[in-house]
Amino acid sequence: MTETASGVRARSLSLRKLPSLVRHPLDALVEAGNTANGEIVRLGVGSTGPYLVTSPDHLETVLHNPERYVREGLLWNGVRRAVGEAILVTEGPIWKSSRDVLRPLFTPARVNTMTDRMAEAIGDAVDGLDEPARRGLVVDGPTELARIVCQATMRVLFGDRISVPDAVRMVDAFGVIATEMIPRIVVPWAPNWLPLPGDRAFAAAVATLDEIVLPIIRSVRQAPDGGDDIISALCAPRDIEGDEVTEKQIRDDVVAMVSTSTETTIAVLSWLWPVLAAHPEVADRLYAEIDRVVDGTQVRRARVPELRYTRMVLDELLRLWPAGWFIPRMAVGDEVLGGTRIEAGSTILVSPYVTHRMRAFWSRPDDFDPERFDPDGPKPDPYYSYFPFGGGQHRCLGQYLFAVEAPLIIATLLGRFRPELVGPADFTPRMGASLRPATEAKLVFRPVRAVAA
Ligand code: HEM
Repeated sequence: MTETASGVRARSLSLRKLPSLVRHPLDALVEAGNTANGEIVRLGVGSTGPYLVTSPDHLETVLHNPERYVREGLLWNGVRRAVGEAILVTEGPIWKSSRDVLRPLFTPARVNTMTDRMAEAIGDAVDGLDEPARRGLVVDGPTELARIVCQATMRVLFGDRISVPDAVRMVDAFGVIATEMIPRIVVPWAPNWLPLPGDRAFAAAVATLDEIVLPIIRSVRQAPDGGDDIISALCAPRDIEGDEVTEKQIRDDVVAMVSTSTETTIAVLSWLWPVLAAHPEVADRLYAEIDRVVDGTQVRRARVPELRYTRMVLDELLRLWPAGWFIPRMAVGDEVLGGTRIEAGSTILVSPYVTHRMRAFWSRPDDFDPERFDPDGPKPDPYYSYFPFGGGQHRCLGQYLFAVEAPLIIATLLGRFRPELVGPADFTPRMGASLRPATEAKLVFRPVRAVAA
């Protein structure tokens, strides 16, 4: 810690003291957070590194002052190459126009009206596992989850305008984009005309997205049919500061909404497989609850509140592997945050992953323990010690939807099958737009009735 002429602290922590940032970046960030014990740390050497902000009160300042801490900088520029000025990445009037259009589609009242349709779509998708389960075949975990989540999401949010196979192609394209944009983030000074590794795959993935969504947007704009889906809402005539909304603007939002409504849910649920394999006591309690609540093959809306332990498990999955693990900001002007001077233009690293694993805020932070989220127990305190859905004006629009959709998927799957993980449970996260296990799960789904017999 050094004291500046103005008396403002300027703490910096060289990553040379920490595990290699390159080989284990997430471990290194958590260790930096723990070492600083909630104080702000400048990462790396010299005067250009980003600031790691982990303490709940500092996070509240950053997230609740969006005009001072904006979504600008390397990561956001990378994402913008794929989704332009969509709600997920932008600020100002463009962001507000999209948020105003989309917000009514995600209110609890609205989501509740979709629940039974969503349960039906999930049930239809889970039917696809009957045959491999009957034959004892090994299936690919991420592929099956993508299929189930896409079927549920396309039906209730996109009015089946995007087919499930096309939605799955889009999910694959998002995976390519998240990986292939990294060279340009790492070498930001490279001009666009200079080809970098990954550019071609990135461009091909963006072309796939356009090929799927543009014809749909054009036909909905030409012949609106009054649908209550996301694409219809975004296509309805509106202006942004006097200019008519453009096709490009609609395309950016549609692509971003398909991406965020699928990838996040797939990523969080993909941690369930290693957790069930490594924690039989959690698996047994979950199965007991689901067997009690799911009678027959479909979960109905009225029974969702009874999936209490299922929600505790989900909350704990979101603590340890929050899909939105990294939500950086850029300081617009000079700031003093928690006694630390932050220069205009600096990057602020905000990471639910890091804060959720810090010893200052959580006991036994690395243990998987759903009891932390017992609804009769205390709530996470302070508030921003647990923020998987962000906060402030950019707080996630899909939080309530996820809270209904994810228990429905788990209850439908586990009400019919007992998944067996082939190979060891691997808890190493692979960084991308979200966090998924580095090892893609291979599973055998055993039919519950056969298990019980
Ligand atoms: C586990 C599931 C999810 C997680 C962990 C998650 C996490 C987040 C986080 C951390 C943010 C804040 C971004 C920021 O502050 O810059 C966010 C924003 C957003 N999320 Fe989610 N999300 C999830 C699911 C969903 C779903 C299912 C949808 C839509 C169907 C959705 C739509 C959005 C939108 C539109 C925003 C941007 C809000 C804005 O900037 O105004 N999310 N999400």
